[in-house]
Amino acid sequence: MTKVLAKFPSRGQVRSKTRKILIKTVLFLKKYVKTVAHLAHSSMNRFDYQRVNRDVYDNMATAQNPLCRPATDAELANPLQTVDAAGWLGKSIAGKQVLCLAAGGGRQSSLYAAAGAEVTVIDISPAMLELDRRVAAQRNFSLRVFETTMEDLSMLAASSFDIVIHPVSTCYVPDIGKVFQQVARVTRPGGVYVSQHKQPGSLQASTDRHPDGGYRIEHRYYRDNPVPPPKQMTKNTGRLRESGAIEYLHRWEQIIGGMCQSGFVIEALSEPRHDQAGPSSPFADRASFVAPYVRIKARRIANPINAPGGNRDSTPKLIL
Ligand SMILES: C[S@@+](CC[C@H](N)C(=O)[O-])C[C@H]1O[C@@H](n2cnc3c(N)ncnc32)[C@H](O)[C@@H]1O
Repeated sequence: MTKVLAKFPSRGQVRSKTRKILIKTVLFLKKYVKTVAHLAHSSMNRFDYQRVNRDVYDNMATAQNPLCRPATDAELANPLQTVDAAGWLGKSIAGKQVLCLAAGGGRQSSLYAAAGAEVTVIDISPAMLELDRRVAAQRNFSLRVFETTMEDLSMLAASSFDIVIHPVSTCYVPDIGKVFQQVARVTRPGGVYVSQHKQPGSLQASTDRHPDGGYRIEHRYYRDNPVPPPKQMTKNTGRLRESGAIEYLHRWEQIIGGMCQSGFVIEALSEPRHDQAGPSSPFADRASFVAPYVRIKARRIANPINAPGGNRDSTPKLIL
């Protein structure tokens, strides 16, 4: 009798076995979902990243995200100071042809228009461009607006802009070199290209502090695939990565080298400070370890180094 009973597990044994099976199943499912999400993310094709990022910004515009808020009256009262505190654009941009590239949302366009420029706005998100149209109508500015990707500016005439303003957005396309070639084509020789980018180190680093202190490098520097989305969205993550967006890391050689190869020379570079809000701000804390953005002033030169007949000699020269 005792022997027969021994063949059947007790209730307790059955419960613990069931629990183990359940735990194993949950772990397997978690791993499966993660793998599928990773595969979907890494096999993004051209159409996917544009569509996904357009939808993300359409939704952000509808939700009145801070990145989609128009300029205030106070900012518009002194527009050039608001957009160019460093004075990279000179004393006046009145009458200049300005391209606000990937800059929808009603903020950039209205500030440059208020400073007297003739403004063209390019963006992939119809909802962001709608904000530009709305603000222009409210403030009585005239604008040219095109819905397209920054990778294709074929609707714009060559050498037609004195200034190209490009807020943080190159992270949304895989090939930054293609964008620089487009910008170079539409910028007149002597024209200025001011762009901001997410720094590669910032895209590599964890968004929140590690329990042991500091921040960890989580993602490879050399990569073609998008940077994986954060494991969880926190307040800090939301300021560094746009939820749901497909983002690519561009190396320094691709940002600075790519600009130079496309026919620009770098005249100034700054790393806007975000670390000074005090220790209670998680965003400022992270920014004191890794600068989130870089701002670059580049000038279009008539004879690009790589152009036929251009100066291929890379020896530095002092030109007086
Ligand atoms: C950080 S927002 C910049 C504008 C923001 N309102 C500002 O004031 O700085 C980034 C913009 O890039 C746009 N964008 C994303 N991918 C794009 C692409 N492939 N081509 C053009 N614009 C793109 C988004 O729709 C969004 O309006």
